[in-house]
Amino acid sequence: MELSLNSGYSIPCPGFGTFKTPDGEVCINAVREAVAAGYTHIDTAAVYGNERSVGEGVRQSGKARGELFITSKLWNTERGYDSTLRACEKSLADLGMDYLDLYLIHWPANEMQFGSKATAINLDTWKAFERLVDEGMVRSIGLSNFYVAHLEPVLASANIAPAVDQIEYHPGLLQEEAIALCREKGIVVEAWSPLGRGRLLEEPVLTGIASAHGKTTAQVLLRWCVQNDVLPLVKSVHADRIRQNLDFFDFTLSGEEMAAISSLPEARYGSHPDTATF
Ligand SMILES: NC(=O)c1ccc[n+]([C@@H]2O[C@H](COP(=O)([O-])OP(=O)(O)OC[C@H]3O[C@@H](n4cnc5c(N)ncnc54)[C@H](OP(=O)(O)O)[C@@H]3O)[C@@H](O)[C@H]2O)c1
Repeated sequence: MELSLNSGYSIPCPGFGTFKTPDGEVCINAVREAVAAGYTHIDTAAVYGNERSVGEGVRQSGKARGELFITSKLWNTERGYDSTLRACEKSLADLGMDYLDLYLIHWPANEMQFGSKATAINLDTWKAFERLVDEGMVRSIGLSNFYVAHLEPVLASANIAPAVDQIEYHPGLLQEEAIALCREKGIVVEAWSPLGRGRLLEEPVLTGIASAHGKTTAQVLLRWCVQNDVLPLVKSVHADRIRQNLDFFDFTLSGEEMAAISSLPEARYGSHPDTATF
């Protein structure tokens, strides 16, 4: 399945995640397995420390670069115009690639850390992102962990609109306000931690629905995401799970099941962008 981006490109769904996937053989094998299983979209980041292995896994997969969609992200220490340009060059060199399909600002600079300068930092960074598109180093640009207050200034001043916002999203964290703004502006929403980092997999409501469909709870969570028009990024280093996490297009959750899943108690497994101190 592919979704259209406002940049004119399309993005495959789901994406394969690599957060906490150790650099070296584990990552190389996971990426190679993922491409062999059928993923064509791989999500990494400079801060994951595994871009070299992601690149190597892609090369070992034998798939042509043009058949794959590769995302990386600018780490927080590199925000600002010049450092962003250098950081993107480094990510490309580490990946061994000459362009990225998607480059994201990993986290917004927030007011808690940067006071009244936070917005200016994010806008400077975005200007550099636009230049990366102009120079052909990146095809589409987007944001990550930008909620409404972080998104609005970028939307107001951007020459190139963000194509994607990648945010924590799963039952218990429905992100209604950010998603409503993204929908209005034609921004694709990506879900990070769609399985709640694995911690939602034993949830009884989900296990009940999974057994009713003869599927796993991971597959139910991924299906719930796409039925809500959110693109899940899912991580595993195990070949059986890597394959399992692609196999969720052969069933449909009913309205009642969707509502039951959406009513699960509030949960957040990662940081909030307004209070992140890294
Ligand atoms: N932009 C951001 O700030 C941000 C933050 C976090 C994540 N992300 C991206 O989003 C991706 C996904 O998020 P995530 O890695 O935090 O969490 P996730 O995909 O929700 O969950 C991954 C965890 O679930 C386990 N798992 C995966 N498939 C399973 C299955 N079918 N059955 C049982 N367990 C399974 C994995 O273990 P094994 O690996 O051992 O199988 C791992 O422990 C990341 O990898 C990264 O690319 C982005």
